[in-house]
Amino acid sequence: MLRTVILAASRSPQVERLVATAPFTRDLVRRFVAGAKTDDALRATRELVDDGLAVTLDNLGEDTVTPEQATATRDEYVGLLRRLAEAGLTPAAEVSVKLSALGQMFDEQLAYDNARAICAAAEEAGTTVTLDMEDHTTTDSTLDILAKLRKDHPSTGAVLQAYLRRTESDCRELATAGSRVRLCKGAYKEPESVAYQSAREVDKSYVRCMNILMSGDGYPMLATHDPRLIAIGEDRARWFDRGPERFEFQMLYGIRPEEQARLAGEGYTVRTYLPYGEDWYGYLMRRLAERPANLMFFGRAVLSK
Ligand code: FDA
Repeated sequence: MLRTVILAASRSPQVERLVATAPFTRDLVRRFVAGAKTDDALRATRELVDDGLAVTLDNLGEDTVTPEQATATRDEYVGLLRRLAEAGLTPAAEVSVKLSALGQMFDEQLAYDNARAICAAAEEAGTTVTLDMEDHTTTDSTLDILAKLRKDHPSTGAVLQAYLRRTESDCRELATAGSRVRLCKGAYKEPESVAYQSAREVDKSYVRCMNILMSGDGYPMLATHDPRLIAIGEDRARWFDRGPERFEFQMLYGIRPEEQARLAGEGYTVRTYLPYGEDWYGYLMRRLAERPANLMFFGRAVLSK
């Protein structure tokens, strides 16, 4: 119920204005987002890499409605990749890209062209690109674009969401040599016709999908903060004899940093998903919807002002 309300608020410009101007917002944003500028992103990346973590950077921006906005996002990524390489932060740092920010909603070809330019820049910088996954109406289009991109840039990765009923089958398709798949639970409000609704069903689906990916020939990226799923991931890594170069754990910036450090300390590859940019609102609201404890952090921030 609470999740539904927050996800609805994440699409409301009125609530966005309220939150954006509230005095407590700065602290809250700082916990989950590296900052507004490319320089902030580079600084945070350096700190994480120095701590032994890999990084995937996300330039926040979801409501792209004009070709100019899409091109500006592409240019930001291309510039970011150049600066990451100059700073010696590749290949430890890669980028995550939302196709909606590149124009997918109004011009799929434009989104593909922009993504291709980012993949080329990543290759030049010696690193990789992962396509984020958005709501279920975009899954087919995103996987089609992935297939096209992988013809020239085979290391391009994608996200699959365990809450979708189709995902086991998508995992089977993508558990092939050279394929990079980030498996997450899924962050959007989806109808029962396409998605499991209970946490238990989603978790069971996650484990089935993990088994397919870990027993396959691709490179699994297990994106979760869930202690039970992480333990199962560690178990499957031992079972399928996957060392730190053959799979990785991924978590979001600001969430369970001590667990990220623990896993890295144990020798696993751990990648932190690091968002930055002005357009933090939708991202922040999805994090709040996921977990009451994040809301309590929000509450404490309000009360401490
Ligand atoms: P969940 O939120 O169910 O939490 C399970 C358990 O984890 C909790 O019960 C608790 O024990 C522990 N936990 C979680 N948060 C904690 C905290 N703050 N402190 C302590 N313990 C905590 N989604 C999507 O739809 N498309 C995408 O492209 C991506 N991309 C993506 C990349 C990466 C790297 C990650 C980690 C996640 C995504 N997601 C995503 C988001 C994802 O779908 C999901 O919404 C969140 O990761 C939350 O799900 P969890 O698996 O962490 O479990």
